[in-house]
Amino acid sequence: MAAEPLSNGATHLSVPGRYILPAHKRPSSSVNGKGAPPVVDLGGDDDGRIAEEIVRAGREFGFFQVVNHGVPEEVMGAMMRAAEEFFALPADEKMAYYSNDGKKLPRFHTSLRNGTGEEVLYWRDCLKLGCHPPEWPDKPRGLGAALEPYTAAVRAAARRVLRLAAVGLGLEEEHFEGSLSGGGMMNVNHYPPCPDPSLTLGAGPHCDPGLVTVLMENVGGGLQMLLHGDGDAGGGGMMWVDVDAAPGALVLNFGHQMEVVSNGRLRSAEHRAVTGARAARTSLATFVWPEPGCTVAPAQELVLAAGEGPLYKPYSYGEFLGVYVAEGGVREAVMAHLK
Ligand code: SIN
Ligand code: FE2
Repeated sequence: MAAEPLSNGATHLSVPGRYILPAHKRPSSSVNGKGAPPVVDLGGDDDGRIAEEIVRAGREFGFFQVVNHGVPEEVMGAMMRAAEEFFALPADEKMAYYSNDGKKLPRFHTSLRNGTGEEVLYWRDCLKLGCHPPEWPDKPRGLGAALEPYTAAVRAAARRVLRLAAVGLGLEEEHFEGSLSGGGMMNVNHYPPCPDPSLTLGAGPHCDPGLVTVLMENVGGGLQMLLHGDGDAGGGGMMWVDVDAAPGALVLNFGHQMEVVSNGRLRSAEHRAVTGARAARTSLATFVWPEPGCTVAPAQELVLAAGEGPLYKPYSYGEFLGVYVAEGGVREAVMAHLK
């Protein structure tokens, strides 16, 4: 049975049963810490330094923040306002876009299951938009006018990061260009206040499918990344760390395709979203990924350079997406298919 979207007007005084996670999956059951991913300044022309910083952050965390990214403040602000306005629409206007068909764009949906067959729902509504090419709902008015410049500027920033990442890896600057980064879309996530955030998650632990994801949020304190410590932290050395972004910064994380193409040098970063008791949080994740027909494989230069052989076998991105959805984005389960 489809769940009623969380943002459709009901006030939640307690957490409805089907959103309550089993005890071992609750955010309160894991080790939690604070931290910020490295800040990379994309301004200036010292590309060698920037490339090195991106690769270092990608190796250690799979996450970093960028400043001087070239996405104008007013373009970011207009996009966020339009996104917030969508979730504030009357329920029937949002429901015109409601669908369980994963291929439809634009698409409004709620409370994704986690792909493991469990019935527990996540505390989030989501509007999926096309951004390459742009596709958006008619309402709120102005969403399209905000989306077009935002996605163009974000894709330009992502393209610069991908060129620099290629250089930092020792590949041709253009390695990620063309069909390898020719696809993409956007998740506009909305997390209404939750009566008891210790019982729920807005998004379960997962890696993103594509090359790189660019995230903008209206309030901090939702996104967490998984750090693999030296074993002192408890929880098998794993610790969930809040990703606190600097004002005006965009948060970037690498996805599965980057880990594959870099033959394991850059990390597809595991992350999740926790819920908050007070403010509703809206986050916009712009995904840059291959075209469905694109063949993805570790870069030959890296395989040969290290003499280590390819860690992953070639596959088509369309095929990969099927596996990704079936496995609910869970890192080890998805990666096991690629070996
Ligand atoms: C996600 O990665 O699915 C959500 C990220 C966020 O809301 O910060
Ligand atoms: Fe994600």
